[in-house]
Amino acid sequence: MQAIVQKSYGPPSVLSLQEIENPEPKPDEILIQIKATAINPLDWHFMRGAPYFMRFQFGLFRPKIKTVGADVAGIVISKGSQVKQFEIGDKVMGILFSKQHMSLGGLAEYAAAPEALFVHMPAEISFAEAAALPVAGLTAYHGLFSFGDIQPDDEVLVNGASGGVGIFTVQLAKNTGARVTGVCSTKNVELVRSLGAEEVIDYTKTSLDQLEQSFDLIIDNVGNYSVKQYAGLLKPGGKCAIIGYGGFKKLLGHMLQSPRLSKKTGKKIGMVSWEYTKKDLAYLADQMEQNKLRSIVSKTYILPETSKAMDHLETGHAVGKVVVEIGRYT
Ligand SMILES: NC(=O)c1ccc[n+]([C@@H]2O[C@H](COP(=O)([O-])OP(=O)(O)OC[C@H]3O[C@@H](n4cnc5c(N)ncnc54)[C@H](OP(=O)(O)O)[C@@H]3O)[C@@H](O)[C@H]2O)c1
Repeated sequence: MQAIVQKSYGPPSVLSLQEIENPEPKPDEILIQIKATAINPLDWHFMRGAPYFMRFQFGLFRPKIKTVGADVAGIVISKGSQVKQFEIGDKVMGILFSKQHMSLGGLAEYAAAPEALFVHMPAEISFAEAAALPVAGLTAYHGLFSFGDIQPDDEVLVNGASGGVGIFTVQLAKNTGARVTGVCSTKNVELVRSLGAEEVIDYTKTSLDQLEQSFDLIIDNVGNYSVKQYAGLLKPGGKCAIIGYGGFKKLLGHMLQSPRLSKKTGKKIGMVSWEYTKKDLAYLADQMEQNKLRSIVSKTYILPETSKAMDHLETGHAVGKVVVEIGRYT
């Protein structure tokens, strides 16, 4: 099959389209013909081996995992003997990466993965829209619900409201009944409003430091403020989920200062990572099925253009999700 392969860490030019062996499903796995794969910042973290400390786990000098892409949607074309939930021909979406299954390989024609990492696709949505949901949607969900324990009357600030995680954060927060303020640049103000934000702050005109308002919950998908600044924006007892990676220096500051300032102020400020749970992905798929949640796919590429897709995402200014559509390319 054709797949995107990386033999070394580096910029998008390390990615190349190659012919590799087809995967074989194990007894608990489904074999998926991949139709679309969304790109996430986690893909460029793997591609570049950055931040450096991740190399201790994923390969010090070169990547142990040589195929990239986590977020996929496609069709089940074969299955192992223990697979119960899916039949051949089912349309599915899921993530090729979890704490138990660290494999990746979504930028390819086929992937074999445990059925536990997949759910049925909602009816009436495209493969690209389905692939756009898992990692970004679960990250938003985890920040709002598991970490943030969002309440219907909360005032919620979403920094980075127009990106992959932001579009889902705004909609999910709004669906709970919370009052949402989104932060984005001028060109995305209307989009963020259309997703349900009551107020939109254009960061090119107003810095969050200038706000007099305070919030019950902040979801920060950019990571460009200090823990002290987040604490200043929170109401007493407020919570701030730091999801965005604003560079290594900021990351270090967030890691070191969050516990100390949380204790001192009584506010809960912490770094939040996405976690795969089938139940939560099924919930998000159900929200989509009911038209309460939608993917915004702003740009699609084809498999041989993957490095262009990665370049696009690495600008840090993609709108919604960037998706690679998979087919056969000669
Ligand atoms: N911890 C985890 O488990 C986890 C999981 C997923 C993602 N992440 C991290 O979360 C972050 C967001 O992920 P993503 O998929 O949403 O990335 P993304 O799609 O690349 O986000 C791009 C968006 O960020 C906005 N943005 C850029 N600078 C901004 C600023 N100063 N203020 C407000 N918005 C700004 C851009 O809007 P404009 O074009 O308008 O500037 C653009 O729409 C990344 O740093 C990623 O590494 C973490």
